[in-house]
Amino acid sequence: MSAPDLRRAAAARALELVEPGMRLGIGTGSTANAFVELLGERVRAGLDLVGVPTSEATHAAATRAGIRLATLEEVPELDLTIDGADEVDDRLRLIKGGGAALLREKIVAFASRRMVVIADAAKRVETLGAFPLPIEVNPFGLAATRRAVEAAILRAGCVGEVALRRTAEGAPLLTDGGHHILDARLGRIPDPESLSTALWAVPGVVEHGLFLGIASAAILAADVDGTAEVTVLGSLD
Ligand code: 5RP
Repeated sequence: MSAPDLRRAAAARALELVEPGMRLGIGTGSTANAFVELLGERVRAGLDLVGVPTSEATHAAATRAGIRLATLEEVPELDLTIDGADEVDDRLRLIKGGGAALLREKIVAFASRRMVVIADAAKRVETLGAFPLPIEVNPFGLAATRRAVEAAILRAGCVGEVALRRTAEGAPLLTDGGHHILDARLGRIPDPESLSTALWAVPGVVEHGLFLGIASAAILAADVDGTAEVTVLGSLD
């Protein structure tokens, strides 16, 4: 099975959690886009709900799919958020932000009663950290913030390089919120909670891509003999 097939299988299972009238957080990335496409089909067939997108890209995709959207100002409490992830461990701790949307993704997930992750089972890891950890920072004082981030990483028992994320044209990437992203290539993060606390203590850090204690379940799709087998970590109730 191709990667898009697996993403669609995870998204299809998540769609079963969606009920009429729901206030739904909608994630960002290719797996979240597969969910948007399937959700759009249900909406066009008559399902009524309101979605809160986690990025400008998802806002555009959901609008194209015909999904009614609102902001968190209009709908500050959500029933469910469905989003992708870059890594997930067996305690449902995540790395997110590969698509640079981690700040809005975390705000939306935190405003939701439940967050369910959808992903290719290859995203499941024993220890977080092989995927570079995205850290969203204010452009002001970038060099000083970067040094403080490097020191925080060391204090949290991690080792690795920190790189400013750039666009294909080589310019520093700007998030939807007008911030930059530092990607920390750490290999492994032995204590994500300590790293989270250390990063939050740096004034220029707006948010980081460790989602700890936020997801209540993960729907993971794997290719088993040519068919998509879906595994659920956590509880979908
Ligand atoms: C965007 C994210 C995405 O959810 C994450 O990068 C996974 O993306 P994909 O489904 O394309 O693999 O956190 O900021």
